[in-house]
Amino acid sequence: MDLLRTYADEIASSLSGILEFNEVVKLIEQPKYSTQGDIAFPCFTLAKLLKKSPVEIAKDLAQKVSHPFFEKVVAEGPYVNCFYNKTVVSLKTIKTVLHKRTEYGSSDMGQSKVMTLDFSSPNIAKPFSMGHLRSTVIGNSLANISEKCGFQTVRINHLGDWGTQFGKLIAAYKAWGKEADVKNEPISELLKLYVKFHEKAEADPALENSARLWFKKLEDGDEEARKLWEWFRNESLQEFAKIYKLLDIDFDSYNGEAFYNDKMNEIVKLLEEKQLLVKSNGADIVDLSNYNLPPLLIRKSDGATLYGTRDLAAAVFRKRNYQFDKSFYVVGQEQTLHFKQLFFVLEKLGYEWANDMIHVPFGFILKHGKKMSTRKGTVVLLEQVIKEAIGLAEKNIAEKSPTLAFKDEVAKMVGVGAIIFHDLKNERQNNIEFSLSEMLKFEGATGPYVQYAHARARSILTKSGIDSYHLNPVGLNDDYSWPIVKLLLAFPEIIAKSFDHAEPSQIAKYLILLAQEFNTYYSHVKILNEDLEQEGRLALVQAVTIVLKEGLRLLGVKAPEKM
Ligand code: ARG
Repeated sequence: MDLLRTYADEIASSLSGILEFNEVVKLIEQPKYSTQGDIAFPCFTLAKLLKKSPVEIAKDLAQKVSHPFFEKVVAEGPYVNCFYNKTVVSLKTIKTVLHKRTEYGSSDMGQSKVMTLDFSSPNIAKPFSMGHLRSTVIGNSLANISEKCGFQTVRINHLGDWGTQFGKLIAAYKAWGKEADVKNEPISELLKLYVKFHEKAEADPALENSARLWFKKLEDGDEEARKLWEWFRNESLQEFAKIYKLLDIDFDSYNGEAFYNDKMNEIVKLLEEKQLLVKSNGADIVDLSNYNLPPLLIRKSDGATLYGTRDLAAAVFRKRNYQFDKSFYVVGQEQTLHFKQLFFVLEKLGYEWANDMIHVPFGFILKHGKKMSTRKGTVVLLEQVIKEAIGLAEKNIAEKSPTLAFKDEVAKMVGVGAIIFHDLKNERQNNIEFSLSEMLKFEGATGPYVQYAHARARSILTKSGIDSYHLNPVGLNDDYSWPIVKLLLAFPEIIAKSFDHAEPSQIAKYLILLAQEFNTYYSHVKILNEDLEQEGRLALVQAVTIVLKEGLRLLGVKAPEKM
């Protein structure tokens, strides 16, 4: 039921062709105050066309428009204000949600078109950073939202598993590494070696040279180099897998940078053929000065390829392999320039689909207002952070509901959910302050708050003893249920908006509102009271649980039945 469109339709037909339906839709507004109605149509645009004052036009229109969905339509100055019929609309809305359940809010906007999403993409032999956490959480949610909108998604983890840093790592390992240490604590040990390399290389330039040689060997398929690389890669992947398991996030492909090793020649050749490759200080670059951008580096003077070269090969491979319609890159805003360069080089190569590539940037995670750094020993090991969140959740739950069953499982859902929700409730371009105690609060705009509202609603349904899937909704017209009904009604539109702007925060913010309205309802209305409207109220509660749970799912957050 789309009330806005129904209203627009009524207005358009009353205007008999003077304004088209679509134009009317665009003009319709949300009044500032609910006393002015649920939606309003401003008549300014019509004044010129009809050569009448907007006030007169509004009066005229208000008399013509009527529909069972609308209780009254009144002119207020130049506006035609429309008040929904609460009984009719609430009945229809609740019925729809109960009928569609998890399909409520789904659309076929995407028409099964393919969308690739490049996200998470951590770097091998380095800790999984906070930035990668943001990419993981935002990318996963965008994939869920896109699927909800009818797209077919491909989730790609473009692992940073190639590049000159592996030469450095191998050189460092050969110089100071111990097998047992790396086996014991792979990520922090490898990071130590990497950091040590940089410290020592300042005083000893021979190290840089040895690193270059090792990377060259690696690129040429030298067995020792290859074996060490594979070992480092496997150890890292196992560490990352623990994090993905905690977050319950999966990928369709783990083809990282190394996968494109044998696919870059083709691109370099093509660039040569199209005379796009230019020599600069011995290196090969693509000049982008006509876009006012610095050049994209394709090959260093020693022939080594770069991050950008691999991204070019990856884009071409993905287009061929998946025939994507849209290709998203969920990567921090510090790489904005890189993606601009990448997309323009593809355009220069004559690929029309370069227009379907979209960089989805995001801000930093801060601690006490400062960037959280993974360099120089101040490593924040993400797995530890997540476990700490789960531990805190456990403590909170033990205080609040000491007798709860499956406490460990619930604590995991709450701890992990808190981290994800805290990230996604912020507009993604903003920086966010990382505070475990803040995000785990059961009050305020947190994940646990929304989860708790859901669990509370579930427990009311359980307590009622009525088979909740076969509830008969009734029309409700009291003041406490109406804000809930209006939010339920808005869910499909919120999903579409969050898709359009690649902004999961729209859904997170919506869920907070819905949880708040539900809690208000809960504290003012006796839901379990054997009167004629009890089943209607329970149907409303049931609809709330469906939408809260589905909304959380879109964010990648679980909704425990009990908390
Ligand atoms: N590994 C990169 C980093 O950590 C992110 C890769 C993003 N994806 C891409 N196709 N470039 O900075």
